[in-house]
Amino acid sequence: WPRTSARADGALTVGGVDVRDLAREHGTPLYVLDEDDVRSRMRDYATAFADSEVHYAGKAFLCKEMVRWLEAEGLGLDVASGGELAVALSVGFPPGRITMHGNNKSAAELTRALEAGVGHIVVDSYDEIARLGHLADQLGQRPKVMIRVTTGVEAHTHEFIATAHDDQKFGLSLNTGAAAEAVRRILALPQLELVGLHSHIGSQIVDTAGFEVAARRLATLLVEIKEEHGVVLPELDLGGGYGIAYVEGDEAPDIKELADGLREIVTKVCVEAGLPVPRLTVEPGRTIVGPGGITLYEVGTVKDVEGLRAYVSVDGGMSDNVRTALYGAEYTAVLASRESEAGPMLSRLVGKHCESGDIIVRDVHLPADLVPGDLIAVAATGAYCRSLASNYNYLPKPAVVAVSGGVSRVIVQGETEDDLLRGQL
Ligand code: LLP
Repeated sequence: WPRTSARADGALTVGGVDVRDLAREHGTPLYVLDEDDVRSRMRDYATAFADSEVHYAGKAFLCKEMVRWLEAEGLGLDVASGGELAVALSVGFPPGRITMHGNNKSAAELTRALEAGVGHIVVDSYDEIARLGHLADQLGQRPKVMIRVTTGVEAHTHEFIATAHDDQKFGLSLNTGAAAEAVRRILALPQLELVGLHSHIGSQIVDTAGFEVAARRLATLLVEIKEEHGVVLPELDLGGGYGIAYVEGDEAPDIKELADGLREIVTKVCVEAGLPVPRLTVEPGRTIVGPGGITLYEVGTVKDVEGLRAYVSVDGGMSDNVRTALYGAEYTAVLASRESEAGPMLSRLVGKHCESGDIIVRDVHLPADLVPGDLIAVAATGAYCRSLASNYNYLPKPAVVAVSGGVSRVIVQGETEDDLLRGQL
């Protein structure tokens, strides 16, 4: 739950505001973000990683106001598409503090990043190295680039969000020699300035051992690059992926311990090899914005499926939170609009979409006297809920055309970036 959440008159309050008032004023479903919680987590990172860079991963949740908070708290930003970059630039975020990611950045996205003067571009394939070299040449620029290295670490998380084993789409493999080949190709291109290596092993990872193995492997690659090419790369970007607690009993890594551990490993490898200690960057997303967000829903029906459980249907579902359907994610939910003395009722919190997989919380105990009109709050929905709902990474939805008799005509217009930014205050 958000750091400021409490109970007053039986109802949940967040940031000093009663959720009943929020539902009355703004309707449900509603995402509620505890600004103090989010900003204090930004500051926690800035303190723990005081001698490093902290680039918030915008994919977790991004909007103009979030960008303003980041700027005020002195953080940088990781963007994964032209759309995310556009959000940052629209409120004047300093481009030098932006890192551009993506496994398939288009020429248009790369051009935009170059024209804006983003601080770093993380390259993810040989094709992209060639594409970026060509574009930089045309624009007369020499961007700072990093190589996304696939370190071979098996992250203990859901298959869809593990990103450091070889058989997935991101990065250039350490094991197969692709990362070393990427170094050679970039060093051969005078238009690109290779400044470092990047690794992101996956998301919602609780065991910090994987991050440490990846950091050691990246630092070792720095040493090998020095030996092979005589080049000392000054930066390492260790990605994000740190887990948060979703349900009671979940563990979450301590950020300060994590920071100290990573710094120590990189320092040791580099100092032993006589290399200067590189500047570190981390890219947390979920840990910054996840815990401070809740989603409010109104109960519409309560159906007792005899002998099994109650199905509690609310006015949202997989359209505002697809994580349960997609990853089997777990959440905590409570009755938020009043106190109840009734006993617990094994429930499944479900949405209103036409799919039986439209589940928000698979197993949760809610009070047995739950009735239509009650408000339910789901915790820790600040990250990857609004953003996955689903113009993920600010990708506009495509147009629809009807074709007939050799002719095509638009029947639904494709969205534009302006469409996606409309309504952001
Ligand atoms: N850096 C890079 C290069 C990334 O790809 C990601 C996440 C992050 C940083 C931030 O990771 P975080 O600290 O937020 O775990 N939709 C999934 C999560 C996908 C994460 C993708 N990349 C979910 O809802 O669990």
